[in-house]
Amino acid sequence: MKKIYLSALTSLALFMFSSFAQAEKNAELYEHGKTEHNANCVKCHTDSVYTREDRFIKSKEALNKQVNRCKENVGVAWFEEDVDAVVHFLNEKYYKF
Ligand code: HEC
Repeated sequence: MKKIYLSALTSLALFMFSSFAQAEKNAELYEHGKTEHNANCVKCHTDSVYTREDRFIKSKEALNKQVNRCKENVGVAWFEEDVDAVVHFLNEKYYKF
């Protein structure tokens, strides 16, 4: 009986820890994306292109493509993880796919 109780407690603790770790990771990703975005992506357009009525990005995949396209235009040397962070940031803040 005691053993079952203990293992339930352990899984609960593990579960709580992993959701906490996930939230922490998302927050880091968001900050990372925000920093990169604000340093490189406000030269041609402001954030209003992400919220305008006729914005053309309709899916997370399209967002990923557009970020890559604009990245090529800027010529900034981002790694895949930087692109992911910026996509995450734009999605959390504006697109919400
Ligand atoms: C060289 C100029 C330029 C820079 C710098 C630039 N963009 Fe763009 N971006 C554009 C143009 C042009 C469009 C299309 C606007 C239009 O069609 O009205 C666009 C559109 C977008 C859209 C789609 C908006 C919508 O309609 O939903 C996203 C997302 C985007 N850019 C992300 C980025 C990101 C991320 C960066 C930083 C890497 C960046 N842009 C930097 C030129 C640029």
